[in-house]
Amino acid sequence: MQLPKWLDTIQVLAIVCAQWGDSGKGKLVDFFAQWADYIVRGTGGANAGHTILINLKKFVFHLVPCGILYPYKINIIGNGVALDPEILDEELRILDREGVSYQNLFIALNAKLVFLPHKVLDMVRELRKGKIGSTGKGMAPTYEAHVGRKGFIVNDLLNPTTFKDKLESNLADMVVILKAFREELLEKGGTDVVREVMAKLGHEDFYDEDNIFDFEKIAKYYSSLGNRINGMVADTDTMIFEALDSGKKILLEGAQGTLLSVDYGTYPFVTSSDSTIRGLAKGAGLTTADVDRTILVLKAPYMTRVGDGPFPTEMGGIESAKWCRRMNEEAEARQYGHLTFATVADDFELGVCTRIKGGEFGATTGRLRRTGWLDLVSAQYAMEVNRTKSCCHVALTKLDVMAGYPEIKICIAYTYTGPDFQYGRQLIRTGDQITNFIPVAEVLKYCQPIYETFAGFGDISQIDSWEAAHENEALGKFLDFLRAYGFIIDLISNGSDRNQTLVRQR
Ligand code: IMP
Ligand code: MG
Repeated sequence: MQLPKWLDTIQVLAIVCAQWGDSGKGKLVDFFAQWADYIVRGTGGANAGHTILINLKKFVFHLVPCGILYPYKINIIGNGVALDPEILDEELRILDREGVSYQNLFIALNAKLVFLPHKVLDMVRELRKGKIGSTGKGMAPTYEAHVGRKGFIVNDLLNPTTFKDKLESNLADMVVILKAFREELLEKGGTDVVREVMAKLGHEDFYDEDNIFDFEKIAKYYSSLGNRINGMVADTDTMIFEALDSGKKILLEGAQGTLLSVDYGTYPFVTSSDSTIRGLAKGAGLTTADVDRTILVLKAPYMTRVGDGPFPTEMGGIESAKWCRRMNEEAEARQYGHLTFATVADDFELGVCTRIKGGEFGATTGRLRRTGWLDLVSAQYAMEVNRTKSCCHVALTKLDVMAGYPEIKICIAYTYTGPDFQYGRQLIRTGDQITNFIPVAEVLKYCQPIYETFAGFGDISQIDSWEAAHENEALGKFLDFLRAYGFIIDLISNGSDRNQTLVRQR
């Protein structure tokens, strides 16, 4: 696949999802990795997941950047990432086994360190009321600890004595909380959840009845993981600065998506880092002003969300949300494996069929991803939030999935149906039409989509050029419609194959 002409004028390119993650960023990062000298991650942690093909086998990676398979390119896990050394170790073992070198991999010495206590707290909280459907990878406790001045960084692993000293003092508050949770559940006649969660994480031996954690054992174990990554841990902020200075081409790999950003997403149903370009640039060691172009990834004409939280365009609404919470992939396939776009009976089944055809199951948790129509209200908001050099470009992915469904619906506004809500100077009342995205869960749960309807595209998986995509009547109309809304389209993905990537050349 030929690299487009417009890349000649770009030094820093970023790939960021406009939605709730899982928009097919991995494929785009892989595509642009051919062009880049450096591939850098800047946010999130092992809550993310992407599938990489090695020796014709599929592997799901959570931390190692997608560019690892290119031996001459530098891969960096930046300062904004929450790094779990245990998961990284598992991924490095896979690379060892498959004979893939990772001499080109560097980890920010100041990346936030996630380890057992953070994961325990994350998982225990999910067992209590008020959960949001976290992946249980320790994100919130890690970033909370960082801003609460009780955090750890990767460099701590290289200094066992200071690490051990820090353990007891930095984790003191967490021990109090975990003890309280344990008592609360025991009093209700439950079992020792803290111990059970630690067993589930494979570390029951690190449990201590009195102090929750056996700090001695934890210090020893994690210091040995520190030895494992010693040599990869580096001052990557300086590396990136020097790369920028010497004209190297840098690709920033986003994780999660704009609507999951702790600062701009559908709070509180978000992850704990800023997954927009603003957080990504910072977490990679850059500023937003260093980024020449952001390509915002929009899955279309459907989108997905995993975990709880409002999703105005969800196919099948509440019924779908409930179903996805309790079902698993196999059970769904047994009941609905026969569905086709020609036979779906209602909106709910359309959502199921889209999920199955699109392979929409969580790479990290295996959960069912909720499916819904493309929402332009949130997409336009994402475009504003992620603009660099005063604009933002777009890539459309998974356009081939709904082939065979005769119509497409695109949400262009919402009707508000809830109680009066004051949003700054805007008083929102029932019946109001909303066109500005309001990233507040209490408002979004009362937003009913207003749709524009289009004809379905039919089978577009064979289209092999930018021009041909525009000659397809239905697809061409849809692209024009998006352009009228201000989206500058750079790329269209019409299949999972690398060659099914149509790029605007000029
Ligand atoms: P956490 O990041 O594990 O705390 O999860 C917070 C919310 O973000 C949950 O709804 C997760 O399902 C969602 N989430 C986290 N990472 C991803 C991702 O990589 N893709 C999609 N959703 C994610
Ligand atoms: Mg993913």
